[in-house]
Amino acid sequence: MVVRSNSVLFLMVFATGCAPLLAQQSAPGNSAKPKLQTFAPGLVEQGQTLFLQNCAFCHGRDAGGGETGPDLTRSKLVADDVAGDKIGAVVRNGRPEKGMPRFSLPENDINALVAFIHTAKNKADTQTGGRRGVDVADLQTGNAAQGKEYFAQHCTSCHSATGDLAGVATRYQGLKLEQRLLYPHNAEANVAVTLRSGQTVSGKLIYLDEFTIGLRDASGWYHSWPAAQVKYKVDDPAEAHVTLLGEYSDADIHNLMAFLQTLHSQTPAQ
Ligand code: HEC
Ligand code: HEC
Repeated sequence: MVVRSNSVLFLMVFATGCAPLLAQQSAPGNSAKPKLQTFAPGLVEQGQTLFLQNCAFCHGRDAGGGETGPDLTRSKLVADDVAGDKIGAVVRNGRPEKGMPRFSLPENDINALVAFIHTAKNKADTQTGGRRGVDVADLQTGNAAQGKEYFAQHCTSCHSATGDLAGVATRYQGLKLEQRLLYPHNAEANVAVTLRSGQTVSGKLIYLDEFTIGLRDASGWYHSWPAAQVKYKVDDPAEAHVTLLGEYSDADIHNLMAFLQTLHSQTPAQ
């Protein structure tokens, strides 16, 4: 169904929509590729923030892969990249037909993203025992009581352990459950489009990229406009999860997982 990925698409368009169009990136043309590419810590940190905002929902918090995007730490393209000469092109042009959106980000931001991705790769490469991304063993290390507390503070505005999430541990197990927790992407976003005439049309967001916005109205009609010619406001209920990605500590995630794993449909939690 088309709708599924669009809420995610929106988030990144929204996050980057105001950025000026890119200048050409001037990657150094050195052909001798250094073995380990290292970057200034400040740049890596800036890249991490950008990655969490724009990329982590698909590629995972540590670039180790998510539900819809590949593990970038194992990517051949990333391994072959020198200072952004390959990554930069993918980020700017995207591969829209394959689910990788295109981004118009300033050169500085791309450089920071490149620094973060290489650093994440260096880190993943040095981890022994194939520990990559989400570790199954970690799923069992959390504290369910602390997870329940965190849940009460951050999640109950939208979820209930005895309501929509009752039995969530029966529906999804292990890594699948963790991925649903971190990157849920099947929520339908609502959008209100204001035309130049001042008329407003609202409905479910069906399509959004830099150029086109499309919605389905309450009577089922599809409408679309050039995105630059209208104003629009998207209300995406899953957006909270994108924000949360940047806030969780590893311990928070483990505790939440421990708590969520108590939510079986036979024994609803109190
Ligand atoms: C909506 C999901 C989504 C988002 C958001 C997203 N990507 Fe991707 N990305 C993908 C998918 C899917 C692919 C694989 C495309 C293919 O099969 O060729 C991909 C591929 C890539 C590749 C190429 C990997 C390879 O081995 O060929 C790079 C590099 C990359 N993404 C970086 C990024 C960066 C950096 C961001 C954030 C600025 C980002 N992506 C945001 C889904 C996403
Ligand atoms: C602002 C609202 C909001 C907040 C806050 C929020 N979520 Fe969600 N969550 C959603 C939406 C929307 C979805 C996607 C629709 C769905 O699958 O239910 C979702 C999906 C999920 C799913 C997948 C459910 C399924 O059946 O696939 C889990 C698990 C989840 N959230 C856990 C949490 C946890 C844990 C927190 C707090 C740390 C949290 N959410 C905070 C809105 C929110």
